[in-house]
Parts: sequence; structure tokens; C-alpha cells
Amino acid sequence: MIDMIKAANILREGGLVAFPTETVYGLGADANNDLAIERIFRVKERPHSHPLIVHIGKIEQLEDWAREVSPAALELAEAFWPGPLTMLFKKKQGSSLVTGGQDTIGLRIPRHPVAQTMLQAFGGGIAAPSANKFTRISPTSAADVYDELGSHVDLILDGGECEVGLESTIIDMSGDHPLILRPGMITAQQIATLLGLEVTSLYTTKPNKIVPGSHMVHYAPVTPTSLIDTPVLASYLSSLTADKLPLVFVIRSQEAMLALAQTKAKMPGLHCIKMPDDAMHYAHDLYHVLRGLDHQHVKHIIIESVPDRSEWEAIRDRLVKASGKRIAVLTG
Ligand code: TXA
Ligand code: MG
Repeated sequence: MIDMIKAANILREGGLVAFPTETVYGLGADANNDLAIERIFRVKERPHSHPLIVHIGKIEQLEDWAREVSPAALELAEAFWPGPLTMLFKKKQGSSLVTGGQDTIGLRIPRHPVAQTMLQAFGGGIAAPSANKFTRISPTSAADVYDELGSHVDLILDGGECEVGLESTIIDMSGDHPLILRPGMITAQQIATLLGLEVTSLYTTKPNKIVPGSHMVHYAPVTPTSLIDTPVLASYLSSLTADKLPLVFVIRSQEAMLALAQTKAKMPGLHCIKMPDDAMHYAHDLYHVLRGLDHQHVKHIIIESVPDRSEWEAIRDRLVKASGKRIAVLTG
């Protein structure tokens, strides 16, 4: 509790508090204090064209920030808040620094108890991007935040490992139709089923204008990273030469395990990490694993691609963004 009073006071004085949410750790500042917001951009080395999400403590605060909240948006808020969903609305309040000059504002009620308590103690909106340097992997523990931002933050609240492990789903509810701008663990399918509406997914693996943060190099490890499809793994392994080592495979399927087992025995510089085979646990572990690998001076990380199903969509999106290239067929 003492930490919470301290955190709220730091925010009131224009300071920065890193805090846990169920998705990833956020770097928080008073959403009504442009000087504090400016510090977020500086510490993250993030361009001003990338707007920040404003975190609120309760649904009643929606109308402080948003205009024209549709019944569909209210339905989503009731179903998924507090939780890993960010909604964009026409903005009522919020400086152009917070919203990157857009006329919309991103709002979310996080469900992590530390985030909730801090929001209650502070009372107002807390603007918070993920607590990492621009384009890097989001932190999923307090130690990761320290690793990314060190002493540039006034306080880091430790709430353990993030439950979800990937950033929130972002849905634009400011127009006539719901548009998903960033996939998250709340899927387009879940939203469409709840609303009984068609939901369009606008994100692509190519840069676009609507989500300023959606350029290609995002959520990326420092180590060169590639994606490989399971069926070409065996032929890639047979083409492997010593100059490509040390190299780490991040795999998921039984098929990949078997393909790697033999080659691994012959090549000491070839390492392998087995990921969970279900999307929820995979998402929880992914950033932690990639961050760990970045500290290990390997030449290359190769990640087995994931199933083409809706519960894997957010993971697939982050993997494509983390990898500079795709390994199709490397032999021949
Ligand atoms: O799970 C999350 O959403 C985490 C936690 C801390 O809440 N936050 C997070 O924030 O991932 P950030 O800033 O790293 O990513 C938010 C993305 C950015 O790409 C930003 O450009 C986009 O959302 N965004 C925010 N407000 C927007 C707006 N009004 N219009 C378009 N894009 C917006
Ligand atoms: Mg981020």
C-alpha cells in the first residue's frame, strides 16, 4: 500500500511509474500532464507520431475521455474490461501529444490487481505504452523493465510475471464498423461472436497509416530472427553448416522435435527451446524466451511458425514482426 501511495504521488508530480498489467508492463504517466508524457517519449526513444493508450480504473471514466460511445463498444467494455482489450473512440479529452495528433483516443481498463490499485489511488487516467525502448520486445516482468529502461524510471512496481504476455487487442470503435488494428489474445472471432457483427482486421504485416505503430520492425529481438515452416525444417537442417552456428531453434511441434533431435546430437552449436503447444501458454512465454536469447550471443534465432488458427493470430503477428525474414526453402 505504501508503494501505491508513493506511485500515485510520483504520477501527480509528473514522474514515471512502470507498472504491471496482465498483458505487459507499462510505462505510466499522468495522462493530463504533457511534460510527463514528453518524458515517456524521450525515455522510450519513441517518435511522437505513435499515440499512447490511456488506462482508466473504471467504466464510468469512459465518458471523461471518449465521445459517441456506441452500444457495441459498451457491450465489449462490459464483456472484456477489465482485461486485455484497448478500444479507440473519438476523443473528448486528451492532448495531441497523447493521441499522436489523431482525433481518436485509445482506452483500456487493465485487470492486473497492481494496475487496478494504482489507478484507484491515482484517480485519473494513466497514459502508458509498453515499458520498452521503441521497436524492442515488451517487458513481461519487473526485471525486464529494469533491463530496458534502468534508472530512467522513477519507480518500478513489481507485480510478477504478466499473465497474458502479449500486448492488448486494439479495436477501433470510432467508426461505423469495428476494425481490429492489432491482434491480441482476445480474438476477432470472440468479438464478432459477442457482437453478432462482422469484424474487420486491418493489421497487415506491412506498414499502414492507421496504426502508427505497425511498421515492420517491431517487437524485435536484437539477434537476427527468422521464421520457418515445419515442413521445410528437415531440408534446412540438412543444409546447415558450421558457420551458421551457434543458432537456436524455438520450436513447438512434435515433428520439429524429432527432426532436430538427430542433427542436434551431431552439432554442438545447435540449441533448441521447446515452447508450449497451446496458444495461451505460448503467448505467456514468448517474450521471456526471446529476451533471454538476446542475452546469449547466438548468431541466429529460428522460430517454427505457428498454426493458422484464430487463437494463434496474435502470436503469428508478433512472430512475423520479430523476424526479419522468412526461411522458405534454403536448399537447392
Ligand atoms: O497491452 C497493452 O496494450 C500495453 C499495456 C501497457 O497496456 N500497452 C501497449 O502500448 O502495448 P504501446 O504504446 O506499446 O502500443 C499501443 C499501440 C501503438 O502502436 C500506438 O501507436 C497505437 O497502439 N495507438 C494508441 N492510440 C492510438 C490511436 N488513437 N490511434 C491509432 N493507434 C493508436
Ligand atoms: Mg509497445
